[in-house]
Amino acid sequence: MESYKQFLVVLPLALALGFVAVAFALAWVLHFREGLGWDGGAAEFNWHPLLMVIGFIFLQGVAIVVYRLPWTWRCSKQMMKLIHAGLNILAFILAVISVVAVFDFHNAKNIPNMYSLHSWIGLATVILYPAQIVMGIAVYLIPATPVYVRAALMPVHIYSGLFIFTSVIATALMGITEKLIFSLKSPAYKESPPEAVLVNLLGLLIAAFGGLILWIATRPSWKRPREEITQGVSNNSSSPEGVKVGTAMTSRTEHESSLETRRRNGKAEESG
Ligand code: HEM
Ligand code: HEM
Repeated sequence: MESYKQFLVVLPLALALGFVAVAFALAWVLHFREGLGWDGGAAEFNWHPLLMVIGFIFLQGVAIVVYRLPWTWRCSKQMMKLIHAGLNILAFILAVISVVAVFDFHNAKNIPNMYSLHSWIGLATVILYPAQIVMGIAVYLIPATPVYVRAALMPVHIYSGLFIFTSVIATALMGITEKLIFSLKSPAYKESPPEAVLVNLLGLLIAAFGGLILWIATRPSWKRPREEITQGVSNNSSSPEGVKVGTAMTSRTEHESSLETRRRNGKAEESG
């Protein structure tokens, strides 16, 4: 119960930080910068930070915690996989448009491409992300993949997903700092004009959002229970998918028995 109450504080806080970050990014490009457009100019560049914050940060963060929402534990695992994959694919599409915008802007203005650490790490995440999606679909959505392969690759999937997400947060922080240094001339960045304060706050929001998503995704007691756990061990179905679950995270005894069952089931639990 205690655990559930904590979850109900941390999740809305994370979502609120994410929403405010998107609002700050929008206010930045619309109020302080040149607005949005697709003309090879500054307005086209502005899609870059906006879509990255909406897609690669906010949507990816939501996709990562989607299995943790207790009210979705009654939905089939297959349905949650489709939502998780769908949100990640949407995040990737927005990231691609955002990268096209910045390359287009650079080419139109004869600015060199790929010279900064921001762009190196940023492009690496944009390349690793579809690899993670393809691996996720091949291993967890295609029914022919054997359960032992799913189980063996689950720790890799979780680690690489969290690594990509953390790298995206770091990339965004580098990007906003670069952009403030490039574009604030008079008054300069070091004079802390209102734009600099707003965008520094945007950076704090992004870092805090990332921190909370990582916290939620690494709490073992907030993990979606295996169908067999909430159904009772006697109902140890051979199919890991499609079984409706009862409410979990509700009582201490249930939680303890779930942990005990997980220990007994060992690796099979991570079969996805
Ligand atoms: C450039 C990725 C977020 C500002 C780039 C480039 C990539 C990239 C690949 C290279 C484009 C080129 O060389 O033509 C990413 C990723 C982000 C992200 C994956 C994920 C969060 C941001 C944010 C800002 C930003 C939030 C804030 C304004 C810039 C700037 C450039 C740039 C100023 C041009 C200078 C440079 O190449 O470093 N970004 N970006 N980026 N990005 Fe980002
Ligand atoms: C779990 C990231 C794509 C299937 C996870 C987790 C992360 C993650 C961090 C751990 C969540 C938790 O412990 O609650 C990502 C990222 C992706 C991606 C960043 C895209 C770049 C996919 C795709 C599938 C998939 C396309 C295909 C269905 C799964 C499954 C789990 C999982 C089955 C296990 C959930 C559980 O039972 O705890 N993913 N994932 N992922 N992901 Fe993905």
